[in-house]
Amino acid sequence: MRKKFVAGNWKMHGNLAHNQKLLEAVLKNTTNLRQSEIAVCVPFPYLSAIQAQLKNTHIKWGAQTVSEYDKGAYTGEVSTEMLNDFGCKYVIVGHSERRAIYGENSQTVALKYIAAQKAGLIPILCIGETLEQREGRITEQVVGEQLNAVIEKAGAGSLMKSVIAYEPVWAIGTGKTATPQQAQDVHEFIRKSIAAHNTTIASKITMLYGGSVKADNASELFAMQDIDGGLIGGASLVAEDFAAICEAAQN
Ligand code: 13P
Repeated sequence: MRKKFVAGNWKMHGNLAHNQKLLEAVLKNTTNLRQSEIAVCVPFPYLSAIQAQLKNTHIKWGAQTVSEYDKGAYTGEVSTEMLNDFGCKYVIVGHSERRAIYGENSQTVALKYIAAQKAGLIPILCIGETLEQREGRITEQVVGEQLNAVIEKAGAGSLMKSVIAYEPVWAIGTGKTATPQQAQDVHEFIRKSIAAHNTTIASKITMLYGGSVKADNASELFAMQDIDGGLIGGASLVAEDFAAICEAAQN
């Protein structure tokens, strides 16, 4: 059975005092939840403080993006080596906000994914369709292309050391969650697409759903066969809500 995984994506939120309080409460409210993996992906400037607070606890941490380059004249960028300096386990790559607002395409995302793995980080690869694409009935095509861009560059075997997050763009920050069946259908499609390359990896890979996951809808989403947990935005900023979502992920 795949271990459930709940990751918070704080996006561009927080400050030192708030983060510390939030994590204190999350640590306290999740101490007994050892059957699932829990992580928070935080803004770069807080990695040092988060490392100090979370090391030797049951909660892991990571970043929300990373440079595809090792080092050099890339003003404003952060490298995988820098993330390793701060003990990151995970890094989100290809979040729809990075694709839509910062122009990251599937090729760049694949390079970031490869850079992360090369440094021993686990990429959380985000894929998902827009509302227009869903209404145009091309969800599988879009998600399939986003996944294949990574498989073509990194090889299907690389998926063994990655996490996939299916995040329909229309469900992110909108309060409109995909129904458990809608999410399950796409997860099943993704798992089958991976199985076409490697059935072992398909059965083992952790696949998260993201998009308006809340304390009151997490259980039914996580109960679906191919959904192994969630990538949580807004609700990860409220300790009780995030802890309740982690609780819903106990196998
Ligand atoms: P919300 O949970 O706020 O919809 O955000 C989802 C998300 O984008 C996580 O990466």
